[in-house]
Amino acid sequence: MSKKTSILILNGPNLNMLGTREPEHYGTMTLAAIEDSCSALAAANGYACTCFQSNHEGELVSKIQEAIGTHQAIIFNAGAYTHTSVALRDALSNYDGVSVEVHLSNVYKREEFRHKSLLAPVVSGVIAGFGASSYSAALCAVDELLSKE
Ligand code: DQA
Repeated sequence: MSKKTSILILNGPNLNMLGTREPEHYGTMTLAAIEDSCSALAAANGYACTCFQSNHEGELVSKIQEAIGTHQAIIFNAGAYTHTSVALRDALSNYDGVSVEVHLSNVYKREEFRHKSLLAPVVSGVIAGFGASSYSAALCAVDELLSKE
């Protein structure tokens, strides 16, 4: 029997505060609601889905390492670590599956320090600016890439 394709939805620092955190940038949907809708969409398309959030860089690095051979795709909102973390970039560089960087807000419309992503050059693609729909757009992109394999 073939193993079910599995997607990891990874969220970094401060994303556990969604719902009340700066709604003008991030909307009012909670992380739990976003994760539920991603899990439902993934299941409807035949994928297993695991969600994980951490405020700690090292825990996120470990999750990416553990995803090798376990999850065929990672959808990752690294929050502020997007702009600073060489460790997360190195972990993603070594990951062998499909990877999508997502942002709720359009980071290019915001402060200049958010325009630079250390992760973008090592992922399959980037989706930003569509609120919670950035995650569903990422799932569609993952589905398309995995279907080609
Ligand atoms: C974010 C954008 C980042 O610049 C910020 O630090 C976040 C959220 C987004 O989803 O729009 O924490 O990744």
